[in-house]
Amino acid sequence: MLKITSVIALSLAVLPALSMASGGDHLKKGEKLYKSACIACHSTGAANAPKLGNKQAWAPLIAKGMDDMMNVATHGKGAMPARGGTKADDETLRAAVEYMVSRVQ
Ligand code: HEC
Repeated sequence: MLKITSVIALSLAVLPALSMASGGDHLKKGEKLYKSACIACHSTGAANAPKLGNKQAWAPLIAKGMDDMMNVATHGKGAMPARGGTKADDETLRAAVEYMVSRVQ
């Protein structure tokens, strides 16, 4: 009985570490920022924003690469405000871009 208890305790300690390693938390953080800020334009395609889930709109951007997309996301371009008009840090902003990319893959 003692053994079973310690196995359960061990797996409880290991599980959160595993889910962090899988990147799930990172995408969740990105989804949160997306839903609080980016969604205003990127859910409708307003002002020609690449729409969430639109493969045709995202394919050429993904082809340019993450660095290029991050550059535009950080500094803005046309109707796209710098950092989507937020004060998000680089890591959170990148997570939001990765979240949008994950929705067309
Ligand atoms: C006010 C509307 C608006 C908001 C809010 C907004 N975007 Fe955008 N976004 C745009 C528009 C418009 C474009 C297309 C810009 C262009 O190519 O001229 C764009 C383009 C992009 C691109 C493609 C960049 C590239 O390489 O061309 C990324 C990535 C992006 N937005 C990320 C974000 C993220 C992340 C947020 C939230 C933190 C956000 N956007 C919020 C309007 C918006």
